[in-house]
Amino acid sequence: MKTARRLAAIGTSATVAITSRAKALVAAGVDVVAMSAGEPDFAAPSFVIEATVAALRAGHTTYAPVGGVPALRDAVAERFGREYGVPFARDEVIVTVGGKEALYDLFQALVDPGDEVLVPAPYWVSYPAQVALAGGVAVPVPCDVARGLALDVAALAAAVTPRTVGIVINSPNNPSGAVYDAASLGELAALAERHDLWIVSDDIYSAVRYDGVPFASVLHVRPDLRERVFIVHGVAKTWGMTGFRVGFLAGSRVVLGRCTALQSQTITSATTFAQYGALAAIRGDDAFLGPWLTAYDERRHRVHAALAALDGVSCPLPGGAFYAFPDVRGLLGRRYQGELVSDDVRLCELILEHAHVALVPGAAFGSPGFLRLSYACATERLALGLERIAAFVAQLD
Ligand SMILES: Cc1ncc(COP(=O)(O)O)c(C=O)c1O
Repeated sequence: MKTARRLAAIGTSATVAITSRAKALVAAGVDVVAMSAGEPDFAAPSFVIEATVAALRAGHTTYAPVGGVPALRDAVAERFGREYGVPFARDEVIVTVGGKEALYDLFQALVDPGDEVLVPAPYWVSYPAQVALAGGVAVPVPCDVARGLALDVAALAAAVTPRTVGIVINSPNNPSGAVYDAASLGELAALAERHDLWIVSDDIYSAVRYDGVPFASVLHVRPDLRERVFIVHGVAKTWGMTGFRVGFLAGSRVVLGRCTALQSQTITSATTFAQYGALAAIRGDDAFLGPWLTAYDERRHRVHAALAALDGVSCPLPGGAFYAFPDVRGLLGRRYQGELVSDDVRLCELILEHAHVALVPGAAFGSPGFLRLSYACATERLALGLERIAAFVAQLD
């Protein structure tokens, strides 16, 4: 039987793959500390659950309009207007099945076969695969390790070719935890303007920041470039609503019109009652987030201190999101019980098999020699995981 070449080259997301492997070990009775998944370990706020149940009871169980429930589009437009300082109309916002669908639709709308898309590395795992599904080529451009994996706009400028059509950025960043500053976003915006490129700004972690670090977006710095900037967002990370599968896409109404046409042929709409839960989240009080951020912040320091104590490992203190991305190149080439730790992938496999901690190799994010550790993981489990990693590293020859 013939199958299509298109998907043969698309692998399963590495984060999903390692989490599945860890789950298989758990099913076999092994006590695995899962630090591989990127979802809050807190349950969605009760007011969101109540609104979702009420929506079900009120009969919101039929198709929603393509593009989303109008009240939700309006609420997101209003909230983004406040947060980004530029007004959005209802038709400049659509509701998607998670941030993931927003990104997928955008690349379908913006990328032609052979087009190149610049992706600062480390990048979120799905960008290159989604660009490839549109026939494009993702061009990874390493961030500046010396500056805590900050955006390297000079390196991005050097990577522009006549085939470059756009840039995808993500701040606070998954996996590095880096938060891009306004100055480099301004330089990035100028680069996009000079070469007539679009910018996809994946802001899904915008609320998860520490030490009062401000959230800077290209729209704050250059509101005049709004026609070439697309905001990807959603309820997953801020409200712990990963399973609701509700995301948002904001930007040019022409491009969003094409995304809506695609939705009409693919998903019809995000789940109707989940959109009412998202409406409660978007309109609701964000006070619940304070204790979550306090917990993440405490864990962030704990992780940073534990990693800093390991010989051969270095890691900047993450400024946002809930990930640490240690540089483990100092561990490679060493041996664990005779087994060569050849690269970050092998290191993750050995840590999972022997220390029973699930981590994700940096190679999955375009940065071999690093590991991603998620601290969206109950504090006591995190402490256990860090102890196990330290014991593993201590046994390396
Ligand atoms: C950077 C980034 N963008 C987008 C997404 C997708 O989010 P959603 O669950 O809303 O599809 C994720 C989820 O892990 C993410 O980390």
